[in-house]
Amino acid sequence: MEIVVLDDPRACGRAVADAVADVLARGTGRPPTLGLATGSSPLPAYAELVRRHRDEGLSFAGARAFLLDEYLGLPAGHPQSYREVIRRELTDHLDIDPAAVHAPDGTRADPAEAAADYERLLAACGPVDLQILGIGGNGHIGFNEPGSAFGSRTRVATLTERTRADNARFFDRPADVPHRVLTQGPATIMEARRIVLVATGAGKRAAVAATVSGPVTTDVPATVLRDHPRCTLVLDRAAAGERAGPVATGQVGAPGRGR
Ligand code: GLP
Repeated sequence: MEIVVLDDPRACGRAVADAVADVLARGTGRPPTLGLATGSSPLPAYAELVRRHRDEGLSFAGARAFLLDEYLGLPAGHPQSYREVIRRELTDHLDIDPAAVHAPDGTRADPAEAAADYERLLAACGPVDLQILGIGGNGHIGFNEPGSAFGSRTRVATLTERTRADNARFFDRPADVPHRVLTQGPATIMEARRIVLVATGAGKRAAVAATVSGPVTTDVPATVLRDHPRCTLVLDRAAAGERAGPVATGQVGAPGRGR
């Protein structure tokens, strides 16, 4: 696991944007395939990507994107559905084909079937070249809450009350936060060729410390990433905090900083 500590969230956003630009620049003969996370942590990266598209001509034409997760039970077009958040914050401002931006469908009558269909689509189009992740205060990735089996794949999951409370800030009333979601499983996420997890702010310090230095356990879902061959944590100083183990600083993808 490579660890990059930068001054602030904007610097983290630029580092994540660099990793995305790298994928877009690499002509592999198949569409560059991005894995997108929601939550506030990737927003500076998305703002930077929008800026680079607008000011520097960074092009997403021909790229594909797959969202990590989605709430169940929100009507199509609900402003807090993750498909809608990604459209509003990112893809509407880029030249990516809207039809190439995929999300688990949280509006389907049979959510288990929607999960299976999403897995099939990912298998047909994958692997994801670069998966962007945030991390929950309890160490969740996507919507894989503590206790999620590392071998599990896209499925219906139930949110903890802590995550519902954390995400209540995006809704009119706390009670409006759905209880159930669709999420890629840890095994799905681990198939990405490269993973960049961004965490900023002191509120993420404990989850980051457990991810980097604690035992690999389903109690902290992000610890599954320790077994990924190309995973980078991009942290601001507040999220990195003081913890056991060496802290490497520098550029994402720079050689010799793995651990
Ligand atoms: C949600 C998302 C996660 C995200 C987490 C943290 O639960 N499903 O993908 O990492 O929130 O969000 P934030 O970055 O706003 O702290």
